[in-house]
Amino acid sequence: MKIRNFKPTNRIFLAPMEEVNDIAFRLLCKKENCGLTYTGMINPLTKEEIHLEDKPALQLFCTNEKGIKEFMKKYDRKVSLWDFNLGCPAKTAKRHGFGAFLHNDLEAIEKILKTMRESTKKPVTIKIRKSPQSMKLIELAEKYCDAVCVHPRTQAQGYSGEPDMEFAEKIKKSTKLPIIYSGDVTEKNVEKLLKKFDFLMVGREAIGKPGIFAKLINKKPKTTFEDYLKLSEKYKLSFKQVKFQAMNFTKSQEGAKKLRLQFFTMKNFDDLRKVYS
Ligand SMILES: Cc1cc2nc3c(=O)[nH]c(=O)nc-3n(C[C@H](O)[C@H](O)[C@H](O)COP(=O)(O)O)c2cc1C
Repeated sequence: MKIRNFKPTNRIFLAPMEEVNDIAFRLLCKKENCGLTYTGMINPLTKEEIHLEDKPALQLFCTNEKGIKEFMKKYDRKVSLWDFNLGCPAKTAKRHGFGAFLHNDLEAIEKILKTMRESTKKPVTIKIRKSPQSMKLIELAEKYCDAVCVHPRTQAQGYSGEPDMEFAEKIKKSTKLPIIYSGDVTEKNVEKLLKKFDFLMVGREAIGKPGIFAKLINKKPKTTFEDYLKLSEKYKLSFKQVKFQAMNFTKSQEGAKKLRLQFFTMKNFDDLRKVYS
Protein backbone atom coordinates (compact mmCIF):
# COMPACT_ATOMS: atom_id res chain seq x y z
CA MET A 1 0.00 0.00 0.00
CA LYS A 2 1.31 3.41 -1.02
CA ILE A 3 1.05 7.00 0.19
CA ARG A 4 1.44 8.89 -3.11
CA ASN A 5 4.86 7.76 -4.42
CA PHE A 6 6.07 6.30 -1.11
CA LYS A 7 5.73 2.60 -0.31
CA PRO A 8 6.53 1.86 3.34
CA THR A 9 8.17 -1.47 4.16
CA ASN A 10 5.16 -2.30 6.33
CA ARG A 11 2.00 -0.65 7.68
CA ILE A 12 3.13 0.00 11.25
CA PHE A 13 4.93 3.29 11.97
CA LEU A 14 6.60 5.00 14.93
CA ALA A 15 4.36 7.91 16.04
CA PRO A 16 5.96 11.36 16.20
CA MET A 17 7.22 11.97 19.74
CA GLU A 18 9.14 15.03 20.74
CA GLU A 19 12.19 14.24 22.92
CA VAL A 20 11.72 10.49 22.53
CA ASN A 21 12.35 10.18 18.78
CA ASP A 22 16.01 11.14 18.57
CA ILE A 23 18.04 9.82 15.62
CA ALA A 24 19.54 6.89 17.59
CA PHE A 25 16.12 5.70 18.79
CA ARG A 26 14.58 6.08 15.33
CA LEU A 27 17.39 4.03 13.75
CA LEU A 28 16.78 1.23 16.26
CA CYS A 29 13.05 1.26 15.44
CA LYS A 30 13.96 0.99 11.75
CA LYS A 31 16.24 -1.99 12.52
CA GLU A 32 13.29 -3.62 14.24
CA ASN A 33 11.23 -3.34 11.02
CA CYS A 34 9.24 -0.21 11.78
CA GLY A 35 7.58 0.76 8.46
CA LEU A 36 8.30 4.48 8.83
CA THR A 37 9.75 6.60 11.61
CA TYR A 38 8.64 10.15 12.45
CA THR A 39 10.65 12.98 13.90
CA GLY A 40 9.04 15.00 16.69
CA MET A 41 7.64 18.45 15.88
CA ILE A 42 10.16 20.73 14.20
CA ASN A 43 9.76 24.44 13.59
CA PRO A 44 10.92 25.28 10.04
CA LEU A 45 12.75 28.34 11.37
CA THR A 46 15.07 26.20 13.50
CA LYS A 47 18.78 26.54 12.86
CA GLU A 48 19.62 23.23 14.56
CA GLU A 49 21.19 20.47 12.47
CA ILE A 50 18.68 17.67 11.85
CA HIS A 51 19.83 14.06 11.38
CA LEU A 52 17.64 12.20 8.89
CA GLU A 53 19.65 9.04 8.12
CA ASP A 54 16.56 6.90 8.81
CA LYS A 55 14.70 8.73 5.99
CA PRO A 56 11.82 9.58 8.33
CA ALA A 57 8.59 11.50 8.02
CA LEU A 58 9.54 15.01 9.08
CA GLN A 59 6.83 16.78 11.04
CA LEU A 60 6.48 20.55 10.80
CA PHE A 61 5.12 22.67 13.63
CA CYS A 62 4.31 26.34 12.98
CA THR A 63 1.51 28.90 12.71
CA ASN A 64 2.33 30.38 9.31
CA GLU A 65 4.20 29.55 6.13
CA LYS A 66 7.33 31.56 7.01
CA GLY A 67 10.51 29.61 6.25
CA ILE A 68 8.73 26.45 5.07
CA LYS A 69 9.83 26.65 1.43
CA GLU A 70 13.53 27.07 2.27
CA PHE A 71 13.41 24.43 5.01
CA MET A 72 11.75 21.85 2.76
CA LYS A 73 14.17 22.54 -0.07
CA LYS A 74 17.06 21.89 2.31
CA TYR A 75 15.78 18.54 3.60
CA ASP A 76 13.46 17.21 0.88
CA ARG A 77 15.95 14.66 -0.47
CA LYS A 78 16.43 13.12 2.96
CA VAL A 79 12.84 12.48 4.04
CA SER A 80 10.17 9.96 3.04
CA LEU A 81 7.27 12.31 3.62
CA TRP A 82 6.27 15.63 5.17
CA ASP A 83 3.72 15.92 7.95
CA PHE A 84 2.08 18.95 9.52
CA ASN A 85 1.17 18.88 13.22
CA LEU A 86 -2.37 19.95 14.10
CA GLY A 87 -2.62 17.93 17.28
CA CYS A 88 -0.18 19.11 19.93
CA PRO A 89 -2.16 19.82 23.15
CA ALA A 90 0.76 21.16 25.24
CA LYS A 91 0.73 24.43 27.17
CA THR A 92 3.48 25.88 24.98
CA ALA A 93 1.39 25.08 21.88
CA LYS A 94 -1.50 26.97 23.50
CA ARG A 95 0.68 29.98 24.25
CA HIS A 96 1.84 30.24 20.63
CA GLY A 97 -1.33 29.01 18.89
CA PHE A 98 0.35 25.89 17.47
CA GLY A 99 -0.87 22.33 16.97
CA ALA A 100 -4.36 21.58 18.27
CA PHE A 101 -4.83 25.31 18.95
CA LEU A 102 -4.50 26.17 15.25
CA HIS A 103 -7.56 24.06 14.32
CA ASN A 104 -9.81 27.14 14.16
CA ASP A 105 -7.59 29.14 11.83
CA LEU A 106 -8.41 27.37 8.58
CA GLU A 107 -6.99 30.20 6.51
CA ALA A 108 -3.54 29.88 8.11
CA ILE A 109 -3.68 26.08 7.79
CA GLU A 110 -4.55 26.33 4.09
CA LYS A 111 -1.62 28.68 3.42
CA ILE A 112 0.76 26.31 5.19
CA LEU A 113 -0.49 23.21 3.36
CA LYS A 114 -0.42 24.99 0.00
CA THR A 115 3.19 26.02 0.60
CA MET A 116 4.09 22.48 1.64
CA ARG A 117 2.38 21.04 -1.45
CA GLU A 118 4.25 23.44 -3.74
CA SER A 119 7.59 22.63 -2.08
CA THR A 120 7.75 18.87 -2.66
CA LYS A 121 6.75 15.95 -4.87
CA LYS A 122 6.90 13.69 -1.81
CA PRO A 123 3.77 12.90 0.20
CA VAL A 124 2.31 15.59 2.45
CA THR A 125 0.13 14.58 5.41
CA ILE A 126 -1.55 16.20 8.42
CA LYS A 127 -1.90 14.82 11.93
CA ILE A 128 -5.14 15.79 13.63
CA ARG A 129 -6.99 15.20 16.87
CA LYS A 130 -10.70 14.87 17.40
CA SER A 131 -12.23 18.37 17.21
CA PRO A 132 -15.33 20.13 15.83
CA GLN A 133 -13.13 21.27 12.93
CA SER A 134 -12.03 17.78 11.88
CA MET A 135 -14.26 17.53 8.80
CA LYS A 136 -13.08 20.93 7.58
CA LEU A 137 -9.50 19.78 8.02
CA ILE A 138 -10.27 16.66 5.97
CA GLU A 139 -11.57 18.93 3.18
CA LEU A 140 -8.28 20.83 3.21
CA ALA A 141 -6.32 17.59 3.30
CA GLU A 142 -8.18 16.39 0.22
CA LYS A 143 -6.99 19.50 -1.62
CA TYR A 144 -3.32 19.38 -0.59
CA CYS A 145 -2.42 16.13 1.17
CA ASP A 146 -1.88 12.42 0.44
CA ALA A 147 -2.94 10.93 3.78
CA VAL A 148 -4.32 11.91 7.19
CA CYS A 149 -3.13 10.77 10.57
CA VAL A 150 -5.89 10.66 13.17
CA HIS A 151 -5.39 10.58 16.93
CA PRO A 152 -8.99 10.47 18.10
CA ARG A 153 -8.58 12.13 21.47
CA THR A 154 -9.56 15.77 22.03
CA GLN A 155 -7.03 18.45 22.90
CA ALA A 156 -8.55 18.55 26.42
CA GLN A 157 -8.01 14.80 26.84
CA GLY A 158 -4.29 15.10 26.16
CA TYR A 159 -3.04 11.51 26.22
CA SER A 160 -5.52 10.08 28.71
CA GLY A 161 -8.94 8.50 28.36
CA GLU A 162 -10.10 6.23 25.59
CA PRO A 163 -9.37 7.12 21.97
CA ASP A 164 -12.72 7.56 20.19
CA MET A 165 -12.73 4.68 17.73
CA GLU A 166 -16.13 5.62 16.28
CA PHE A 167 -14.78 9.04 15.42
CA ALA A 168 -11.68 7.58 13.75
CA GLU A 169 -13.88 5.22 11.71
CA LYS A 170 -16.14 8.12 10.72
CA ILE A 171 -13.08 9.98 9.38
CA LYS A 172 -11.99 6.83 7.51
CA LYS A 173 -15.41 6.52 5.85
CA SER A 174 -15.54 10.23 4.96
CA THR A 175 -12.51 10.26 2.66
CA LYS A 176 -10.59 8.25 0.09
CA LEU A 177 -7.28 9.46 1.53
CA PRO A 178 -5.33 6.74 3.37
CA ILE A 179 -5.77 6.97 7.15
CA ILE A 180 -2.89 6.50 9.57
CA TYR A 181 -4.45 5.65 12.93
CA SER A 182 -2.82 6.69 16.23
CA GLY A 183 -3.96 5.90 19.78
CA ASP A 184 -3.16 2.98 22.10
CA VAL A 185 -1.93 0.60 19.38
CA THR A 186 -0.61 -2.53 21.13
CA GLU A 187 0.19 -6.18 20.44
CA LYS A 188 -3.35 -7.00 21.60
CA ASN A 189 -5.31 -4.86 19.13
CA VAL A 190 -2.93 -4.53 16.19
CA GLU A 191 -4.59 -7.15 13.97
CA LYS A 192 -8.06 -5.70 14.48
CA LEU A 193 -6.85 -2.15 13.82
CA LEU A 194 -4.99 -3.16 10.65
CA LYS A 195 -8.33 -4.31 9.24
CA LYS A 196 -9.94 -0.92 9.92
CA PHE A 197 -7.21 1.52 8.87
CA ASP A 198 -4.57 1.78 6.14
CA PHE A 199 -1.63 2.35 8.49
CA LEU A 200 -1.05 2.45 12.26
CA MET A 201 1.42 4.33 14.40
CA VAL A 202 2.72 3.27 17.78
CA GLY A 203 3.49 5.93 20.38
CA ARG A 204 3.94 5.33 24.10
CA GLU A 205 4.07 1.55 23.71
CA ALA A 206 7.34 2.02 21.78
CA ILE A 207 9.06 4.27 24.34
CA GLY A 208 12.17 2.39 25.52
CA LYS A 209 11.02 -0.62 23.47
CA PRO A 210 11.99 -0.37 19.79
CA GLY A 211 11.62 -4.18 19.69
CA ILE A 212 7.84 -3.71 19.74
CA PHE A 213 7.97 -3.23 15.95
CA ALA A 214 9.47 -6.69 15.47
CA LYS A 215 6.93 -8.23 17.84
CA LEU A 216 4.01 -6.58 16.04
CA ILE A 217 4.94 -8.47 12.88
CA ASN A 218 5.75 -11.69 14.75
CA LYS A 219 9.52 -11.33 14.63
CA LYS A 220 12.05 -11.50 17.44
CA PRO A 221 13.47 -8.17 18.67
CA LYS A 222 17.21 -7.88 18.11
CA THR A 223 18.34 -4.50 19.48
CA THR A 224 19.49 -3.56 22.98
CA PHE A 225 20.28 -0.42 24.94
CA GLU A 226 23.97 -0.97 24.11
CA ASP A 227 23.04 -0.46 20.44
CA TYR A 228 21.37 2.78 21.43
CA LEU A 229 24.50 3.85 23.31
CA LYS A 230 26.71 3.21 20.26
CA LEU A 231 24.44 5.26 18.01
CA SER A 232 24.15 8.03 20.58
CA GLU A 233 27.95 8.34 20.53
CA LYS A 234 28.00 8.38 16.73
CA TYR A 235 25.48 11.22 16.65
CA LYS A 236 26.93 12.99 19.69
CA LEU A 237 23.65 13.10 21.60
CA SER A 238 23.72 14.93 24.93
CA PHE A 239 24.25 13.04 28.18
CA LYS A 240 20.86 14.35 29.36
CA GLN A 241 19.16 12.74 26.34
CA VAL A 242 20.99 9.43 26.75
CA LYS A 243 20.12 9.29 30.46
CA PHE A 244 16.47 9.98 29.60
CA GLN A 245 16.49 7.07 27.14
CA ALA A 246 18.33 4.85 29.61
CA MET A 247 15.42 5.36 32.02
CA ASN A 248 12.95 4.54 29.23
CA PHE A 249 14.77 1.38 28.15
CA THR A 250 15.03 -0.04 31.65
CA LYS A 251 11.33 0.33 32.48
CA SER A 252 10.51 -3.10 31.12
CA GLN A 253 13.71 -4.80 32.30
CA GLU A 254 14.24 -7.05 35.28
CA GLY A 255 15.81 -5.17 38.20
CA ALA A 256 14.64 -1.87 36.66
CA LYS A 257 14.23 -0.13 39.99
CA LYS A 258 17.84 -0.76 41.00
CA LEU A 259 19.14 0.32 37.59
CA ARG A 260 17.10 3.52 37.63
CA LEU A 261 18.46 4.43 41.05
CA GLN A 262 21.97 4.06 39.59
CA PHE A 263 21.05 6.29 36.66
CA PHE A 264 19.93 9.05 38.99
CA THR A 265 23.44 9.45 40.35
CA MET A 266 25.25 9.28 37.00
CA LYS A 267 27.04 12.41 35.93
CA ASN A 268 28.58 11.51 32.58
CA PHE A 269 29.00 8.90 29.80
CA ASP A 270 31.77 7.07 31.69
CA ASP A 271 29.42 6.38 34.62
CA LEU A 272 26.88 4.99 32.15
CA ARG A 273 29.43 2.80 30.36
CA LYS A 274 30.49 1.23 33.67
CA VAL A 275 26.97 -0.19 34.05
CA TYR A 276 26.93 -1.53 30.51
CA SER A 277 30.50 -2.88 30.24
C1 LIG B 1 6.19 11.94 24.86
C2 LIG B 1 5.25 12.21 23.70
C3 LIG B 1 5.62 13.13 22.74
C4 LIG B 1 4.78 13.38 21.65
N1 LIG B 1 5.17 14.27 20.69
C5 LIG B 1 4.40 14.43 19.58
C6 LIG B 1 4.85 15.24 18.50
O1 LIG B 1 5.95 15.81 18.52
N2 LIG B 1 4.02 15.37 17.42
C7 LIG B 1 2.79 14.74 17.35
O2 LIG B 1 2.08 14.88 16.36
N3 LIG B 1 2.36 13.96 18.36
C8 LIG B 1 3.13 13.77 19.45
N4 LIG B 1 2.72 12.92 20.42
C9 LIG B 1 1.47 12.15 20.22
C10 LIG B 1 1.76 10.78 19.60
O3 LIG B 1 2.28 10.90 18.30
C11 LIG B 1 0.48 9.90 19.54
O4 LIG B 1 -0.43 10.46 18.64
C12 LIG B 1 -0.19 9.76 20.91
O5 LIG B 1 0.76 9.51 21.92
C13 LIG B 1 -1.21 8.62 20.90
O6 LIG B 1 -0.63 7.41 20.58
P1 LIG B 1 -0.23 6.31 21.72
O7 LIG B 1 -1.51 6.04 22.49
O8 LIG B 1 0.23 5.14 20.89
O9 LIG B 1 0.82 6.92 22.58
C14 LIG B 1 3.54 12.70 21.53
C15 LIG B 1 3.18 11.78 22.53
C16 LIG B 1 4.02 11.52 23.58
C17 LIG B 1 3.61 10.50 24.61
